[in-house]
Amino acid sequence: MVYTKTSFNKKTILITGGAGFIGSNLAFYFQENYPDSKIIVFDCFRSEATFSNKNLQSFGHYKNLIGFTGDIICGNINNKADLEILNDIKFDYIFHQAAISDTRVYDQEMIMRTNVNSFYWFLEKTKKDNATLIYASSAATYGSMPSPQKIGFESPENPYGYSKYAMDQIAAKFSKNNPNIKIVGLKFFNVYGPREYFKNKTSSMVIQLGHQLLNGQSPRLFEGSNKILRDFIFIDDVLQANIKACESKNNGVYNVGTGKPRSFQDVADILQKELGCDYSTDYFPNPYNGYQMHTQADITLSEENFNFKPIFALEEGIKRYIPNIKDMFKVPVD
Ligand SMILES: NC(=O)c1ccc[n+]([C@@H]2O[C@H](COP(=O)([O-])OP(=O)(O)OC[C@H]3O[C@@H](n4cnc5c(N)ncnc54)[C@H](O)[C@@H]3O)[C@@H](O)[C@H]2O)c1
Repeated sequence: MVYTKTSFNKKTILITGGAGFIGSNLAFYFQENYPDSKIIVFDCFRSEATFSNKNLQSFGHYKNLIGFTGDIICGNINNKADLEILNDIKFDYIFHQAAISDTRVYDQEMIMRTNVNSFYWFLEKTKKDNATLIYASSAATYGSMPSPQKIGFESPENPYGYSKYAMDQIAAKFSKNNPNIKIVGLKFFNVYGPREYFKNKTSSMVIQLGHQLLNGQSPRLFEGSNKILRDFIFIDDVLQANIKACESKNNGVYNVGTGKPRSFQDVADILQKELGCDYSTDYFPNPYNGYQMHTQADITLSEENFNFKPIFALEEGIKRYIPNIKDMFKVPVD
């Protein structure tokens, strides 16, 4: 689906984190819709290194890129020599997705080095190439601010959220000093859809619950899950936001959600209907203190600045996602 009049054909496009969930979907989006674009994926892929929470340090997986015919560079955004490889190429667009995306990593130094330090390099590269930069911020910058979450009212409550908050401040300063360069940050809410499977335990509850059901298990949810709401957004709407953001009237950072929060119970119920099961829910106490009970993106500014109009209600997104949820069931994740 083509979202704007801008043609990306004959353009050189860098996608950092292109072996991950959102990045690989972007890579295929350009390949399918703009076959004459030159697409370069830059990603460190996954190694066997883990954080103290036992999750992998990076989730990029070659299987997300099978069928991708563009160029691939395996590189680490923390490594200057790897970044230098990109200096030989002039980009028209940079979609910067590479990051430690795990919100439950508490190694502050590692998160800040990876998510923030490298960002200065990408800003300078954008300037040097006179490119357009679209980068991934996050709803985690809001912490537990009341709904609807609005730009300018952030209060991060974990190192990951803070790193994205810091990126937003850095981008704002850079934009002020370089008003002719297009830089747009997107605060993604809870994204779900194909190619998230290799995020394993950090993938969305949509695929995790889907696989519990396919395994013949009751959906496991926190007690009171009908009152725990999230702004779930389907990957296609996230692609729409990235593409339309290239034509944003103003630089800045914008929310990317549906504006219509839904409960975890809704997710489980829709999956049960789509998968033809009828298990009773297995509720267990929520172990987290200060757990965010409600997120809802205020998307007024995204609509005003780049005509962002999410298309997929949770029912439709899950329906589209079901074949992939089934395909990935029992695929080894390790
Ligand atoms: N998926 C969501 O719900 C969501 C919500 C808010 C924000 N985001 C942000 O969107 C972006 C993409 O998220 P995602 O869900 O696709 O996550 P992901 O983990 O699947 O993708 C991130 C990619 O970055 C790569 N990467 C990590 N560290 C790297 C490094 N040091 N050098 C090079 N590559 C590195 C990983 O290998 C991975 O492929 C991230 O910046 C994330 O923080 C995602």
